[in-house]
Amino acid sequence: MSLRIGDTAPDFEAETTKGPIKFHQWLGDSWGVLFSHPRDHTPVCTTELGTVQKYLPKFEERNTKVIAISCDEVDVHGSWIEDIKETQGVPEGEQSVTCLERLSCGLQTYSSAFILFLPPSISVFEMTVAFPIIADPSRTVAQLYNMLPKESADVKMPATVRSVFILKPDKTIALQLVYPASTGRNFDEIIRVIDSLQLTSYHKVATPANWNTAAPGASTDVVIVPTVSNEVSLMY
Ligand code: BEZ
Repeated sequence: MSLRIGDTAPDFEAETTKGPIKFHQWLGDSWGVLFSHPRDHTPVCTTELGTVQKYLPKFEERNTKVIAISCDEVDVHGSWIEDIKETQGVPEGEQSVTCLERLSCGLQTYSSAFILFLPPSISVFEMTVAFPIIADPSRTVAQLYNMLPKESADVKMPATVRSVFILKPDKTIALQLVYPASTGRNFDEIIRVIDSLQLTSYHKVATPANWNTAAPGASTDVVIVPTVSNEVSLMY
């Protein structure tokens, strides 16, 4: 059965790059984004994971945890993370590693004498992928969330499409997006819809076309929902 907005997101247990998780327990009281990838080590997926890593502070500001899923095994995810680190460099100041981790990484890689002469603006530290990636080789989670394409009936081990589920703190589905494997997602749009979902969850308003509080010059005007009476809306 297909999942609908308002349904409780199916719970599951899975192996991830950060260890085993129970999904609902891992979400805790946060908002959540679950997003699927066709395969590890593929170029579009690699740019997406690098982008999400760069955007982690934006998700954290919005009390939102992110978790990726791909049908490959955890050890393949591990080697993919090495690719992501190598190809999707994260600017200094946006990395999710602590100063101490940076220092010890630098000390292992370089002699201390060399470190002394490094200008502070040069980063010798690698990015990390700080959010978990679920390994779903059995396609159990992919099936629970309808992440498999139509062709899957003919293919023994189908790859997921690019699905996005945004979950509320009560674990209900607030939004679903489905993209084909050939189209990478726009994570500015995902941040924009989280802003809209959070605003409209807590206030009796809706956000019109192209509403965006993060894009300079975009409209930030909101609409009062039709269920609010004229008398009450005049009080706004
Ligand atoms: C990619 O991530 O590059 C990709 C994966 C599957 C199909 C097409 C592109």
